[in-house]
Amino acid sequence: MRRALVAANWKMNASVAAIDAFVRAWQQPSSDVDVVFCPPLGYLDRLGSAFAGDVHLGVQDVGVEAKGAFTGEHSAEMAADLGAAYCIVGHSERRAMHGEDDAVVAGKFRAALRAGLMPVLCVGETLAERRAGDAKETVLRQLDAVLNDSGAAPFADAAVAYEPVWAIGTGVTASPEQAAEMHATIRQRLAAEDADVATAVRIVYGGSVKAANALALFAQVDIDGGLVGGASLDPHEFAAICAAAGAGQ
Ligand code: 13P
Repeated sequence: MRRALVAANWKMNASVAAIDAFVRAWQQPSSDVDVVFCPPLGYLDRLGSAFAGDVHLGVQDVGVEAKGAFTGEHSAEMAADLGAAYCIVGHSERRAMHGEDDAVVAGKFRAALRAGLMPVLCVGETLAERRAGDAKETVLRQLDAVLNDSGAAPFADAAVAYEPVWAIGTGVTASPEQAAEMHATIRQRLAAEDADVATAVRIVYGGSVKAANALALFAQVDIDGGLVGGASLDPHEFAAICAAAGAGQ
């Protein structure tokens, strides 16, 4: 019913040479999976032309406004104009390093919708929050901020990425059971607003996903794919992760 979604978040890693080498080595694994590449914005065009339409493009962030005097920002409309169809919002690195609070993230989610991009809303607790027993409360607070701002309906055409902060770039992944429990919590929260939306929304997992652990994660009923950082920079590793998402459906 839900198509698997695997998105590559390349963060601040790219060069023309690296993109060309990646695309030369890339072998699209399955047509049952939506594969999305989110390079740094300036490389969208290079990546899109090199892949020749086999994959979707996304951006890692957008500004809240459509245009204007916001030095260094790019808008969701600009990302769409450059060929992006997806947009990551509220990544924990943006929340932690750029001071994005729940209200800003809600504004960015709205901006993505306004421009016709599919938002991938990142939520996730820190290690301290998990140890304090506040993991669910944190994730639901982050989700509710967007739900209260945009309503439930747009989630039918959005994705939620559960990315526990302690699993990002650490090599420590959430166990399939830990991830599945949080994904179910997220889906239940959406179901309380709108059952059809909860059935349609794709909830993907992020945090040290690798080819070796992907299938165990993606085999869980409420895990519809992944948001992949480090491992998405290697074409063979990332293709294996995408294949696991097809197999785990
Ligand atoms: P890693 O896959 O490198 O842990 O990063 C996850 C992430 O932050 C994806 O957005």
